[in-house]
Amino acid sequence: MKVAVLGAAGGIGQALSLLLKTQLPAGSELSLYDVAPVVPGVAVDLSHIPTDVKVKGFGKDDLATALTGCDIVLIPAGVPRKPGMDRSDLFNINAGIVKNLIEAIADNCPKACIGVITNPVNTTVAIAAETLKAKGVYDKNKLFGVTTLDVIRAETFVAELKGLNPANVHVPVIGGHSGTTILPLLSQVEGVSFSDDEISKLTHRIQNAGTEVVEAKAGGGSATLSMGQAAARFCLSLVAAMRGENVVEYTYVETNSADARFFAHPVRLGKNGVEEILPYGKLSDFEQKAKDSMLEGLRGDIKLGEDFVNA
Ligand code: NAD
Ligand code: LMR
Repeated sequence: MKVAVLGAAGGIGQALSLLLKTQLPAGSELSLYDVAPVVPGVAVDLSHIPTDVKVKGFGKDDLATALTGCDIVLIPAGVPRKPGMDRSDLFNINAGIVKNLIEAIADNCPKACIGVITNPVNTTVAIAAETLKAKGVYDKNKLFGVTTLDVIRAETFVAELKGLNPANVHVPVIGGHSGTTILPLLSQVEGVSFSDDEISKLTHRIQNAGTEVVEAKAGGGSATLSMGQAAARFCLSLVAAMRGENVVEYTYVETNSADARFFAHPVRLGKNGVEEILPYGKLSDFEQKAKDSMLEGLRGDIKLGEDFVNA
């Protein structure tokens, strides 16, 4: 298994690379790319950890070599939010970064599964899809917006509230990855019931958890460590599925459903990425209303990405 992390010297990139160095299956290769000159140092640092995962660092002129032969490419490259900003404020800088990286993936490892972490995810995934399409190599089963952070946050907050072990709590989160487009399905959490007030407060907290971190870091960036964990969980699930295990993760994929072109669903992963997009089940009245009122915004975010590539 060869996995590339693009943006590997950043806050997410370093945490994610550490987790992959220690948890990828023996014999894997980890390819670390960043435009920051420290990236070879990050690779040397990680290479001293005694696991059977080879790590190599690649600087800004070596993107093609970093990508050649990759099975999975994870993209946390780009700028994070500061207090007072929305994720959409990152579009102007991050849209071009994602487009350029995806073009290089299309040229060097067109069959790789791609996990987009860079914000605004609602839009950058659409940019990735249209860029791959323009290159003639788009496979909708191999492109994912990584929304696992919303899932692990929801599991943590529900466990905290109900005094449970978070390892035993499973919370579906559908939709997109920004504000009200993040829709936790608390009505489907097994063995737990919530009052209307708890549902309203928990939903709000899960939708605004990114801002909670941005404000607490006070100008020093957004979630990096929890995101590193979330992206590692997603990548390791993909690796397990590619090796024949039965794995389901919630992730933002092309569904072409009546909801929106891209929508986070439970997805059965397999050897070639998406094996099956599963239905998200029955929604409560609260969830149905929340979904109906966020769809227009999500579709607008997606169109912005499509237009960025096609205009
Ligand atoms: P960071 O500033 O710490 O790191 C970003 C890294 O990207 C830097 O090392 C930078 O040199 C590198 N980079 C910039 N342009 C590049 C390019 N063209 N090619 C390769 N590398 C490049 O930021 P971070 O905290 O790691 O966040 C990265 C992105 O992830 C942000 O857009 C942030 O909003 C997003 N994010 C997404 C989620 C999610 O749930 N999907 C969660 C947290 C953060
Ligand atoms: C998050 O959810 O933490 C990320 O999308 C980063 C952000 O800007 O909130």
